[in-house]
Amino acid sequence: MHWDIGIDLGTQNVRMAELKEGPVLTASAALAFRDGSRAPICAGDIAERLVGRTCEGVSVSYPLRDGVLENNLYAARMFQWLFKRSEGVNTRRRFGAMITCAPFARPVQREAMLNAALDAGAADALLVRSDAAAALGAGLDLNGPEAKLLVDVGAGKITATLFTFGRVAAFGYLPYGMNRIDDRIRRILRTDYGYRVGKASAVEIKHTLGSAMPDKAPRDIIMHATGIGMLQRAPMNFDIETRPVLDACEDVVAELARMCSAVIDNAPEELSADLNDAGAVLTGGGAMLTELDRRIGQALGIPCRVADAPETCAIRGLWKIMQDPAPYRGAIQGLQGGEGWQ
Ligand SMILES: Nc1ncnc2c1ncn2[C@@H]1O[C@H](COP(=O)(O)OP(=O)(O)OP(=O)(O)O)[C@@H](O)[C@H]1O
Ligand SMILES: [Mg+2]
Repeated sequence: MHWDIGIDLGTQNVRMAELKEGPVLTASAALAFRDGSRAPICAGDIAERLVGRTCEGVSVSYPLRDGVLENNLYAARMFQWLFKRSEGVNTRRRFGAMITCAPFARPVQREAMLNAALDAGAADALLVRSDAAAALGAGLDLNGPEAKLLVDVGAGKITATLFTFGRVAAFGYLPYGMNRIDDRIRRILRTDYGYRVGKASAVEIKHTLGSAMPDKAPRDIIMHATGIGMLQRAPMNFDIETRPVLDACEDVVAELARMCSAVIDNAPEELSADLNDAGAVLTGGGAMLTELDRRIGQALGIPCRVADAPETCAIRGLWKIMQDPAPYRGAIQGLQGGEGWQ
């Protein structure tokens, strides 16, 4: 089987690679549906723009929630939408698809994900551990003997995996990701400041004022934002300071640091010692949170760096696996199960 198409389906974003071209598409994983209809009106970034703006009878949905499949119909529709956009698939009648999947997804969710790809038109489908794909995309030699720690910081999940000899020596995860910071920012602004802000504004506030080192972050920055004043019941411009945003970040970042420490604590001593040289590598869009590498490095007492273009590591790694899956069998699973991935 030729693995012509690779898809990194995330909670927030979806990315696609073609065997001949490499990564070709990045879009929001949103789908907009009219109530009662099973075919989306639109998908991707156009559907994302409808979040918080939909009129009656239209809703925006995502196939995954907290990093794992929530709705197989949405996943099949998303795959169909991607297959239609792919040059490689249009010219071939039979094609295989490789899809990333959270390592902690339950067997029933993995099977549903594979079936969604088959329903959408793929002749065969395989799942690849998202952390293994991200590690390869970050340039780590998965099959080498020295241990390496990969922390994938996504929108809906965060995983920390210690790899050695192509196997997983220790693993931990949080069943939520950096989108939780957006929710926290919205809640703090609503309850403590009396403003309601949309999801897109909360994301912008997080990117601008967010930091993983609250003590080092500059306090005198003020950002202008727009929201609905709950007292005035009218749209208003207002100023936000860094404090509430740093508090929102800290909730998630502190848990993330604790989870990574637990992974290292549970690893065999020799492997943990390897990390003093190799350090930890951060991937996923959330790795771009200001100072996250420094904070994790401090918490673990080892060097820590953000991979180049961290948000595209998983799809670049998946493309590598599509070209030659054999060395990565332990990270791959089909409908009949996987060798090393239980
Ligand atoms: N500069 C930045 N600062 C802070 N967070 C960022 C930045 N850029 C992107 N993010 C966050 O990264 C997340 C998106 O990352 P990514 O695209 O890797 O997630 P995903 O693959 O859709 O989700 P998952 O892998 O968890 O299912 C969003 O929460 C986004 O707000
Ligand atoms: Mg992801």
